[in-house]
Parts: sequence; C-alpha cells; structure tokens
Amino acid sequence: MSIQTITWSRGKIKLIDQTLLPNKFKYVYCNDLKSVWKAIKILQVRGAPAIGVAAAFGVIIGIKDSKAKDYKTFEKELKKVCKYLAASRPTAVNLFWALDRMQKTAAQNFSKTVTQIKKILLKEAKQILEEDRRICRKMAGYGAGLIKNNDTLLTHCNAGALATADYGTALGVMYMAREKGKKIKVYADETRPLLQGARLTTWELMKHKIDVTLICDNMAAVVMQEGKIDKVIVGADRIASNGDAANKIGTYGLAVLARAHGIPFYVAAPVSTFDPELKSGKQIPIEQRKPEEITACVGRRIAPCKVKVYNPAFDVTPARLVTAFITEKGVIKPPYKTNLRKILK
Ligand code: MRU
Repeated sequence: MSIQTITWSRGKIKLIDQTLLPNKFKYVYCNDLKSVWKAIKILQVRGAPAIGVAAAFGVIIGIKDSKAKDYKTFEKELKKVCKYLAASRPTAVNLFWALDRMQKTAAQNFSKTVTQIKKILLKEAKQILEEDRRICRKMAGYGAGLIKNNDTLLTHCNAGALATADYGTALGVMYMAREKGKKIKVYADETRPLLQGARLTTWELMKHKIDVTLICDNMAAVVMQEGKIDKVIVGADRIASNGDAANKIGTYGLAVLARAHGIPFYVAAPVSTFDPELKSGKQIPIEQRKPEEITACVGRRIAPCKVKVYNPAFDVTPARLVTAFITEKGVIKPPYKTNLRKILK
C-alpha cells in the first residue's frame, strides 16, 4: 500500500498530517509525549487502529528518557505515560487496548533491566503495527467474499489506509474486492463536521483509482431510494459484546436507512475494536468535541458566535441493524451474543 499513515522512523513517530489533506500532503514527526497526545487529539492521526498504533509508539516516546533503575519506579512512570495518552480520546477502544498491551508486556518482563524492558516495549509497538497490517489483509479477504461484481457500496467517514497501518477495514474490503477482479463503485458520505469522507476517503480511493462519488451526508437516503446502493460498509471505534457498534457520528442514521431500504449493512473491524468488558453500546463513552467544529467549516464561521452546540463525535448502531461483522477471524453473523463470544475468547 502506497499510503504509509504511521511509521516509526529513527526514534520518532512519522505521521501523515490528516488535518491538512487533501490540500497538502505533509508528514508530522512526534518525538515528545505532548506532541503524540496532540496528534491524536486534533486528528493528525485518527481512525481506531491507527490511534492504537500511535499510542503504542507514544509509550516508547514517553519512557525513552526514564532514568529508573528498578522495575517499580519504571512501572510508575509507565503508568503515568499511559494515563496521559489514554486521556486523548475516549471512544476508540484500540487506544486503551494498545496501552494495556504495552503495560502487560512490561509487567511480564519485570525481572529484566529497565534498558532491556525498553527494548522489549519497542519490539512490542512494532509488532502491534505489523499485526495491524496482517489483520487488514485478512479482514479484507473475508469481506471481499461478500462483494459481487458491479456492486456499488456506500461508506461513511474514513476507515481506510489513513485509519490503519495498512489498507484499512471498510476500504480494505473494497481494495481486496478490486484485487480479486471485481468492479465496484463507491459513494462516500462527506461526514460532517470534520469531513473525513470528503477530505480523506475520496482522496484515498481516487489515489487507488476506485470509482468514487462524493455526497453530502443528507443525500444518503436519496441514493438508497434511487436504488444506487447495494451494500453499506463502515468501520467501528468500539463494539460492545452484544454487537452494538460505535462509529463516526452519522453511522447510526445510515444503518436505519439501510434497513428501511433492505440494504445489507456491514461493519468491518479488527478484534481489537471489540470491547468484551461492555455488555451493550449504552456503556460506550462517546467523545464530545468542541463547538467550533460545527460553528465553523474549513476555517470559516457558518453560525452565530454564541449559538448552543451539541457535538458528539460518534454514535452507536444497535446490533440488530448490523447484517454482519467483518473481522480477521471471519464474517460474524447474528446471533451476536453467542457468535461474538467465540471470536473474543
Ligand atoms: O474521529 P475519527 O476520524 O477518528 O473517526 C474514525 C471513525 O469513525 C472510523 O470509522 C473508525 O475509527 C474505524 S477506522 C478503521
């Protein structure tokens, strides 16, 4: 995949600055903890799997200057770093999953020297990135089996290469379907307020020569009514154990529309996006973002200064509206309570 969203480069995290796309293609380098936190917070790096990878390398940056001589002192510093990174964004569980995995790796190696533990942690962060690459391919392989030749797909936000370490979840399915010789067309929702669909998904799909048409979010109903859409495929930020799935705000509306028009609605996500601790979507923390994301658009004010604003960044699609989950362990169909338990073991 030609898009290298996140890499580890000579002791720094190298990220494509997604706040600038599609107008500017620029890398941002993070070599201190604050810049990693900020990159996640302001969406220079975004998308659940990519946030997880960034957090893992963020840990490396956070502990690199540790002078701890014993594990106890090191563990305290590590916890502080993880707590700080965990406060960047609350919804994508991959962030917490990666931080947890880094802390567990350190704990498993408590008897080693701090220098050795630091090396082991770097290896683990690199492993998280590599695993994400393999997982994207596997997931895409299963998902591509659901796509028919000449299908037209609708997607929301960006669940592609820019959201992962490889070629994405929902968009990965599209890339793989095309690799398998299927012709596809894609409609991309612009995804207000931050326009990940308009800015990122169209850029990415056009770069890969996939036929993409941009629509405003409020046009999804019409394109479905006109019979233009065969399937909806989206990503997810956190999926509860009953199959309720949080994704970019607007996804729930699409799922309702898809059901009303008899269109299959698929959620593509790695197992690390499932949160077995949560019984239902009601427990998923939803990020609230600042009003200016709505009162302004591409740097220009579009609403009165002091207007009241409600800006949840995600919504939760009830499991009953999801036709199937596409994961690296296969395509999971209802009943989710039992079928998800099998993959979450
Ligand atoms: O706020 P964002 O841009 O991080 O939201 C991203 C999404 O909602 C994606 O659909 C989700 O993280 C899946 S990415 C493979």
